[in-house]
Amino acid sequence: MNPTDYQFIGDMLKRRSGMLLAPGKEYLLESRLMPIARESGLGSLELLAAELRKPGSDALQAKVTEAMTTNETFFFRDTSPFDLFRDDLVPAMLQSRAADRRLRIWCAACSTGQEPYSLAMILREMADRLVNWQIEIVATDLNSEVLEKAKVGMYSQFEVQRGMPIALLVKYFTQIGEMWQIDAEIRAMVKYRKLNLLEPFGELGKFDIVFCRNVLIYFDQMTKREVLERISAVMSPDGCLLLGAAETVLGITEAFRPVPEKRGLYVTPPTGAAASGADTGLQALRAI
Ligand SMILES: C[S@@+](CC[C@H](N)C(=O)[O-])C[C@H]1O[C@@H](n2cnc3c(N)ncnc32)[C@H](O)[C@@H]1O
Repeated sequence: MNPTDYQFIGDMLKRRSGMLLAPGKEYLLESRLMPIARESGLGSLELLAAELRKPGSDALQAKVTEAMTTNETFFFRDTSPFDLFRDDLVPAMLQSRAADRRLRIWCAACSTGQEPYSLAMILREMADRLVNWQIEIVATDLNSEVLEKAKVGMYSQFEVQRGMPIALLVKYFTQIGEMWQIDAEIRAMVKYRKLNLLEPFGELGKFDIVFCRNVLIYFDQMTKREVLERISAVMSPDGCLLLGAAETVLGITEAFRPVPEKRGLYVTPPTGAAASGADTGLQALRAI
């Protein structure tokens, strides 16, 4: 692919999704975009780039952008965020929100659903402590195809073997031929929505716990800051953010601070109610 087309596609990806196209990724464009080129009756990436430049190519641009996303994910990825969720965050929030019995969780780049379903299974396992609680898991992604797969909740043997404790597989999945489908009851706990993190998301409402894992790594510093600051604006005052193992807020924004000894966990700096300690069951965590 010639450098002008490479630059053009890189600029388009950045503008539409925040994703950076590093130099030397021609092989990636070839493998991910040639199927779209062929499907559109175009025999090469040069012809595809020319088509993308035409006015009215918005749908094709969206398709190309979605095809360039990396959707790697697996159940209980990295273990510790899910341990934190089960052992620290939910128990603390059960105390701090005992009056209104509501908990809202957002998986902000959920890919094919393994992350929100891991959270849903944890909550299902805690069901006896959550009687009469209204718990919502909202899961969003830019890519429509992964969202469709997530909604169906059907996974291969390989996918369910990655990270999933066998006891949960037996308990919450049904084998259908060579695939495993997560039970309707767990699927119903997650609401999927298509959402680009570069676009406004205030209408999703406020969240107590946000998982935004392994997506900021694809963005430049300015985009990371901008997205993190808008996430902080949709979090409850004592809300918690979980980032991926290779991600941080340090040197990017003051909207969150890391919780020492709790890798991957970030909280907003204490202000208002959280600062006065009036309404937070997370004081112990926040005080670390
Ligand atoms: C590597 S996956 C991470 C999945 C999961 N959070 C995890 O950690 O296992 C990154 C996801 O981010 C999504 N993504 C990339 N850019 C995005 C954007 N601007 N808005 C929303 N989602 C985006 C991709 O479609 C992809 O599914």
